[in-house]
Amino acid sequence: MADRLAVYPGTFDPLTNGHVDIILRGARLFDRIVVAMLVNPEKSPLLSLDERVAIAREVFADHPNVDVDTFDGLLVDYARRKGASVIVRGLRAVSDFEYELQMALMNRRLNPEVETVFMMPGEAYTYLSSRLVKEVFALGGDITGLVPEAVHVRLQRKRAGA
Ligand code: PNS
Repeated sequence: MADRLAVYPGTFDPLTNGHVDIILRGARLFDRIVVAMLVNPEKSPLLSLDERVAIAREVFADHPNVDVDTFDGLLVDYARRKGASVIVRGLRAVSDFEYELQMALMNRRLNPEVETVFMMPGEAYTYLSSRLVKEVFALGGDITGLVPEAVHVRLQRKRAGA
């Protein structure tokens, strides 16, 4: 049987421990999972795409079935090019559901052969989002335990102007 490849798309600005939790669950469920970072020049990210890729590669260096890649254009086109049959998305709370349902159904319409699979992160991460991490960090709050060490280090370096 062919390898079952899943794509886990997102912005990952920054990668949080909630993302890491979902990726590790996906890596147990599928033969390979590709963390696919959207190239989105319209948004002004805190971390550049190169920084986000470098962080994810560092975090998953010991996980040979986790790949890190970038994509632009339609997600389903990227999935097709990669030969992926599954899109993984995390669902934290009911508030995520509407947006995720819309995306999943639109993606299904665009390519019925790609299935979206939702996974729940560990309950410790249900309130966690990249947006909140950025806000707390910008306002001087402690983000220890919310993001991988590699993210924390980069953000501190950025704050120091390095
Ligand atoms: O981490 P995010 O910002 O919630 O991820 C959103 C993402 C990257 C999954 C979504 O914006 C996306 O898939 N963009 C690619 C463009 C696309 O395919 N749009 C139609 C999907 S309904």
